[in-house]
Amino acid sequence: MSRGDPAVPMAYSALSHLDCPRCGTRHDADRVQGTCACGSPLLARYDLRQVARQASPGDLAGRPADLWRYHELLPVREPGRVVSLGEGMTPLLALPAMGRALGVPNLLMKDEGQLPTGTFKARGAAVGVSRAAELGVTAIAMPTNGNAGAAWSAYAARAGLRSLIVMPEGAPGITRAACVAAGAELYLVDGLIGDAGRLVAEAVGRRPGYQNVTTLREPYRIEGKKTMGLEIAEQLGWRMPGVIVYPTGGGVGLIGIDKALRELLELGWVSGALPRLVAVQAAGCAPVVRAFQAGATESEPWPGAKTVAFGLTVPKALGDFLVLQALYATGGTAVAVMDEALLADQREVARLEGTFICPEGAACFAAVRQLRASGWLSEEDEVVVLNTGTGLIYPETIPARAPVLPSSGSIPALGRQGTVSLAAVADADHQDDELLVGDLVDDPIITDAQPVPVAVAGQFLDVGVRPSRIVPERREGPQDGHCRLLRDRPKLADGAFAPSERILHAPPRPVSSPKISATTSAML
Ligand SMILES: Cc1ncc(COP(=O)(O)O)c(C=O)c1O
Ligand SMILES: [Zn+2]
Repeated sequence: MSRGDPAVPMAYSALSHLDCPRCGTRHDADRVQGTCACGSPLLARYDLRQVARQASPGDLAGRPADLWRYHELLPVREPGRVVSLGEGMTPLLALPAMGRALGVPNLLMKDEGQLPTGTFKARGAAVGVSRAAELGVTAIAMPTNGNAGAAWSAYAARAGLRSLIVMPEGAPGITRAACVAAGAELYLVDGLIGDAGRLVAEAVGRRPGYQNVTTLREPYRIEGKKTMGLEIAEQLGWRMPGVIVYPTGGGVGLIGIDKALRELLELGWVSGALPRLVAVQAAGCAPVVRAFQAGATESEPWPGAKTVAFGLTVPKALGDFLVLQALYATGGTAVAVMDEALLADQREVARLEGTFICPEGAACFAAVRQLRASGWLSEEDEVVVLNTGTGLIYPETIPARAPVLPSSGSIPALGRQGTVSLAAVADADHQDDELLVGDLVDDPIITDAQPVPVAVAGQFLDVGVRPSRIVPERREGPQDGHCRLLRDRPKLADGAFAPSERILHAPPRPVSSPKISATTSAML
């Protein structure tokens, strides 16, 4: 049958049914559904032959630049039921400077920070809320690490649904404001997302009309997140990259991207090998990494989960087995990164590329750094990193101290700033290219510096200007004194410390407080 055959009615969505990836049971997609009786999340399935009859990559090119351009592969049946704030088609940015710095010149970043509500959560919320409303749901309830709550309450407001949101007290403060602004019934819990989940489940049991839309407990959020994978393929000219690196909490985005690419393969819109998928977690909460390293099919709950990349604080995800399956099946891997390393790369991406990314996205760059150092990534690899949100949600990750000038004062003359400011942080990578701190501070261009030891994991030191500690507590970290020079700001001397990747070596001794030179203090 050819495309556009008049005998076959066109359908906005080719959704056919839901199926259980664990036990294979088929479920009706036109009723409100939660998980399978076996406890597994349900996955939406489409009549891909119908999709192929109705659409082609060429047709898609003429559609609006939002995620609804893939409507045949999305679950909303009636175009009039689409609830949109203009989400989708985020840029796939080449990052040449960061790529050079990491030794991965073909480095791209899908920048989800530009979506409504500032994170990729808008995709899941747009599709999930639209479909819930289409099926007659009048109120949604969910636990969240903050960003999903902000997104779902916004889309719920747009759809005229009530929303009940519960988030840990530690979730980013701005996401509370977003929920309140959207009219959500918001509660904070003195605990983690699992505790919020228990409260939500219990409340939904007592509230008729509320749907529990906890991650993977309803089947359509993943369909929204899937569109990241569809867009990446389309933006590459209907081609798949070699590697996709994803910051993994609940893992929905990674499962969604994998699902999207498999659907495109089946449609014949892309061909070749699936990208190797990389799940990135924070060292303070890395259940999937631990399971992957053990070759396990499921993760164990991570005790005492804590990371600055708050969205990754998921001690045990319902869909962990699907994440692990995707990693094993694509020849991918799982990587844990220290908070200090991801914070350092958050700054590095902003410094080199001008984009202020969220700490979850930054974790992916720290992971690329590790994977390149270990040889898992090569210089030839085309690597797509998902930056899942804007850094603006996490202002506390970058301490922005600046000199306050009296209104009658003046800006210091350039010559007055004859210092070089360097930031260093202990690095887990044991790289060869070492330089003694002594060498560094003796360098003639650092006119103002005191010898400053730098071998403290997580402590950033500005040599010669002012210390900036961006990680308040000392964390466990490499104690061998290997440090990576992260940032240099040669304000005067030409070519001084030009490469940002010079490696420092310092004796492994703790530092209480960095010294500041008299001149510098006077400047402050
Ligand atoms: C900014 C950000 N990135 C990544 C994640 C993890 O997402 P996923 O559940 O798809 O693993 C979250 C979850 O809260 C998040 O807020
Ligand atoms: Zn099942």
